[in-house]
Amino acid sequence: MKTFTLITGSSSGIGQNIAIKLSSYKNIILHGRDRSKLEKVKMMCSNDNEILIWENDLKKIEEIENSLSNFIRDNNILINTFIHSAGYMKMLPFKMSSFSLIQETLNVNLISAMLISKIITNKKINNLDLSCIIFISSNISNFGAKALSIYGASKSALDGFMRGLAIELSSRKIRVNSILPGGIKTPMTENIYNDSELISRIELQYPLGLGESNDISNLVEFLISDNSRWITGQQFVIDGGRTINISG
Ligand SMILES: NC(=O)c1ccc[n+]([C@@H]2O[C@H](COP(=O)([O-])OP(=O)(O)OC[C@H]3O[C@@H](n4cnc5c(N)ncnc54)[C@H](OP(=O)(O)O)[C@@H]3O)[C@@H](O)[C@H]2O)c1
Repeated sequence: MKTFTLITGSSSGIGQNIAIKLSSYKNIILHGRDRSKLEKVKMMCSNDNEILIWENDLKKIEEIENSLSNFIRDNNILINTFIHSAGYMKMLPFKMSSFSLIQETLNVNLISAMLISKIITNKKINNLDLSCIIFISSNISNFGAKALSIYGASKSALDGFMRGLAIELSSRKIRVNSILPGGIKTPMTENIYNDSELISRIELQYPLGLGESNDISNLVEFLISDNSRWITGQQFVIDGGRTINISG
């Protein structure tokens, strides 16, 4: 049976960059909500390997398990690597937040990762083939920022889940890690990057300057390779030194 790498949120930004890079040597499952966007990403991927599309709205958490297990069964495939890059971020002071914002943020960033992990670690559905899980978290996971308390909580919880899962799956040699990027220019952050005054101020806080999606996918490549065979349960901050910079 053919094995695939599932990359949620690969219709855009960091997930798209990871998918294009990995497609030169892996079969890929592209994921997002919009088939036309996913078809465009498919065109950008290498045609040396197979590319499938799983269209699914992760807000609708009650549908995820059935949708993914049917997808695996109908395509007669196995998933050996899972990269959760799908994410939802809305900047809003907490006092202005709503139950639906809390729910959508947690569903997309956290609960969907849990439910997908549940399906792909189920030996009856995905046999024994899984080797690696990576969550794209955020450097906010260990810190705080104005208007990002709900998003930050979703990423901290994702990293907490990552550690527990890493221990639970260690006996099967399945490795689970998180990557915590700093600011990267993608559709998620384009409002910030389009404000030249704001972005020049932010840039000053990054000792190595601003990063790119490619910086994240380079680390993904290492973490899915055998070169990281003894690494599990870790948060990898990749933010050009932003979070260790206490210069005045
Ligand atoms: N960019 C940054 O500065 C930065 C920094 C730290 C962490 N991150 C994290 O990196 C990851 C990727 O972010 P990005 O910057 O690449 O953002 P992006 O370009 O906006 O991509 C977000 C992806 O998530 C998917 N998504 C969002 N809501 C969804 C839903 N309800 N159901 C299914 N898919 C959904 C989007 O799919 P659609 O195309 O269907 O909308 C898209 O593929 C996120 O987890 C984000 O939190 C980003």
